[in-house]
Amino acid sequence: MEKRNERQVILFPLPLQGCINPMVQLAKILYSRGFSITIIHTRFNAPKSSDHPLFTFLQIPDGLSESQTQSRDVLLQLTLLNNNCENPFRECLAKLIKPSSDSGTEERKISCLIDDSGWVFTQSVAESFNLPRFVLCAYKFSFFLGHLLVPQIRREGFLPVPDSEAEDLVLAFPPLRKKDLARIMGTSAQSKPLDSYLQKILEATKPTSGLIVMSCEELDQDSLAESKSNKVFSIPIFPIGPFHIHDVPASSSSLLEPDQSCIPWLDKHETRSVIYVSLGSIASLSESDFLEIACGLRNTNQSFLWVVRPGSVHGRDWIESLPSGFMESLEGKGKIVKWAPQLDVLAHRATGGFLTHNGWNSTLESICEGVPMICLPFVWDQFVNARFISEVWRVGIHLEGRIERREIERAVLRLMVESEGEEIRDRIKVLRDEVRRSVKQGGSASRSLDELVDRI
Ligand code: UDX
Repeated sequence: MEKRNERQVILFPLPLQGCINPMVQLAKILYSRGFSITIIHTRFNAPKSSDHPLFTFLQIPDGLSESQTQSRDVLLQLTLLNNNCENPFRECLAKLIKPSSDSGTEERKISCLIDDSGWVFTQSVAESFNLPRFVLCAYKFSFFLGHLLVPQIRREGFLPVPDSEAEDLVLAFPPLRKKDLARIMGTSAQSKPLDSYLQKILEATKPTSGLIVMSCEELDQDSLAESKSNKVFSIPIFPIGPFHIHDVPASSSSLLEPDQSCIPWLDKHETRSVIYVSLGSIASLSESDFLEIACGLRNTNQSFLWVVRPGSVHGRDWIESLPSGFMESLEGKGKIVKWAPQLDVLAHRATGGFLTHNGWNSTLESICEGVPMICLPFVWDQFVNARFISEVWRVGIHLEGRIERREIERAVLRLMVESEGEEIRDRIKVLRDEVRRSVKQGGSASRSLDELVDRI
């Protein structure tokens, strides 16, 4: 680890698990390069500061009511947070940059602010303090570029898509089909607030000092090249690879307590015999979909480790809607937990497949461990990631249509038992090695990180 320099970096994550993890991992990378780290965060979904004693944490009020923190409407939450946090954030930054004269401390040397692309007020705040701002893009870069076109596509009257065209590719947003785009763009009732939010993201990203991308040439070559040629962004772009495989000490930034009993349970299983099932930190299921997944998994007769977050089955606290005797009928082949130590589970030799919603963190974590996937995307970027997994890299199977027990069973058996699964596994090992090489010295992501550190 390099000697800590005088320079301080301020980070401001969006308060969602899928955004906190990359930001904390980025903090660890920059700390290992000698920067001091201050993390400004909201009260809602505050990261556990005790897990990261080397960083300074500063909490700001976010104005969310109890019921707003429980809302399933993420767009609404992000809109409220952006409306409520501007003043508290400005005041917090002012105190950091210009400590009051009676506090006796000198003005700090703050190198830059790094915050999530989903914060749309921070660019003007940073400019008012003359502070360079870098934006973290914790999505696949092709999605990030493409989704900013959504308002334009909508304006051009692209939707609704006639049935006959549903399978056609969208030229501006490969490898999406028109039907994928229709699902991403949502209902017309959601379109106005969504388009206005995306427009603000675009405007607040263009004038920044750079984009830090959680991806690499090996995964996003086309869109990185395209962004250079079509100049959507004329700012530097730093694809520094999956953050969690950089050489920094491991630590958890989970908001829920991971159930560590998963690991001794996996220890008892044969190599590559367990299918891991997790739908991330936001997705939720109707009771009937939950039961279809449960029965599909049971019918495979394969071992499974399944994360069911409390409250993620509509109208239920946890898994009480399982038929009585369900767990006993599995004879030890199934384990259900509320939250898992996912990185350790994916790295475990017993894990042979991952039934995932394809959030970008989960997708990268699975690629980096060479674990093939069954894709069950719910919203947004997850459809893009699922298309890359199933059609471009061919390292997983895409479950489309209604959630149905026979489809689940069939996909698990194809991946875990049949020869098709072996071929998929071979391909993901090649991809894993390429991606891991990119963060090693001399690799594309490693060079990008050096450039970013120089730039900061
Ligand atoms: C959200 C969006 O839904 C997703 O589409 C976007 O790409 C990122 O932001 P989320 O749905 O939570 O993320 O999924 P994901 O990106 O996969 O992040 C979940 C994180 O929680 C991963 O880092 C995963 O390792 C961790 N996790 C998940 C656990 O540590 N334990 C679990 O049991 C489940």
